[in-house]
Amino acid sequence: MSVETQEYVNGLRPGPLTREIPECMRDKYTVVQAIMDVIVFIIVGIGHVIQAIYRTIVGYPKKDLKGGIAVVTGGGGGLGSLIALRLARLGCTVVLWDINKQGLEDTVKLVKGIGGKCFGYVVDLSNREDIYRVAKKVEKEVGAVNLLINNAGVVSGHYLLDTPDHLIQRTFDVNVLAHFWTVKAFLPTMIERNDGHIVTIASMAGYVGVAKLVDYCSSKAAACGFDEALRLELEVKGIKGVRTSLICPYFIRSTGMFEEVKSRFVPQLNSNEVADRVVLAIRTNEPYAFIPGYFRILISARWLVPWQCTAELIRGMVPDAVPSPPSVSRVHETSSTSLPDISMKRESRPMSLVPPPRPERHV
Ligand SMILES: NC(=O)c1ccc[n+]([C@@H]2O[C@H](COP(=O)([O-])OP(=O)(O)OC[C@H]3O[C@@H](n4cnc5c(N)ncnc54)[C@H](O)[C@@H]3O)[C@@H](O)[C@H]2O)c1
Repeated sequence: MSVETQEYVNGLRPGPLTREIPECMRDKYTVVQAIMDVIVFIIVGIGHVIQAIYRTIVGYPKKDLKGGIAVVTGGGGGLGSLIALRLARLGCTVVLWDINKQGLEDTVKLVKGIGGKCFGYVVDLSNREDIYRVAKKVEKEVGAVNLLINNAGVVSGHYLLDTPDHLIQRTFDVNVLAHFWTVKAFLPTMIERNDGHIVTIASMAGYVGVAKLVDYCSSKAAACGFDEALRLELEVKGIKGVRTSLICPYFIRSTGMFEEVKSRFVPQLNSNEVADRVVLAIRTNEPYAFIPGYFRILISARWLVPWQCTAELIRGMVPDAVPSPPSVSRVHETSSTSLPDISMKRESRPMSLVPPPRPERHV
């Protein structure tokens, strides 16, 4: 772009989709530029929509995960262990990270029991140095990681004014800041090999506020922002081999997190179905998956109706997210630097080997 043109448009550079405007058109420059940008955007946008409709009808191609190395944080229990089992079935080497040693051992046994290759590492995800240290160890002992699933999460479950500061800090440390550190640890190798996938297990609570979950909802909203900004950053840098997926489930049954939630209208999700959906999103490089899918419509519609409608719906749907919050003094004892006593830790309980209720038994 010439200096003259630059001066003429007062620093407005041509959009990425259009060429520089010829000399004779310069007085019309910004208007023509803007119109062309909009037209090209509409054409390209329609193309993407047609492609998405076609793919929804015929299905997306599924990538083969065989031979890959997957790190699943919070893999010592709940959803993480169910995802791990599925990845192992598909031929991935699974590396589980969890603060809960017993949960890790149990899940490693389960995965090995179905013939999978699995390693467990005790990591405190609220500790950045611990994350970097163990990430190096994994790359050295297991190999280059090409699938990172940021799944570990905690919930405090109190009204904001009853939530001690350290629990709010812990929620952000585990639910979102850990994503920064794990991605910084593994992304460079993924970029180098042009092969990688980063999965953020966020929550519908990232898009909707719920009482007693102020720290949880805001940390999940941050996780949603993290995924989208990272995906765009990779696209802007032209990195095509590294994908990201954002997973936003509604409340899930039979994991350690929201066991007693009171949910009306929408039944709690089956944990095995959520794990299946996560693996499908990975295999089809889906940028985001809302579970159940129709929540995409509800979430968009919330901006079109008055706040009171949204509030009525949320209050009706989730009268109480945490009917019996953990006693603050007991949670207080579980500091982020010491390994927790599992028996008193309901926020990050490991998956038990006790079989789940009948409809959820298959893995
Ligand atoms: N359960 C639900 O209803 C629900 C709904 C939407 C989203 N989610 C999200 O799904 C993910 C998995 O949840 P879940 O239901 O399996 O919960 P869970 O409590 O059963 O599992 C969480 C795992 O994270 C581990 N963990 C907690 N703190 C850790 C730390 N500091 N370092 C290392 N590991 C730690 C726990 O030990 C546990 O194994 C979470 O991110 C959660 O926010 C859950």
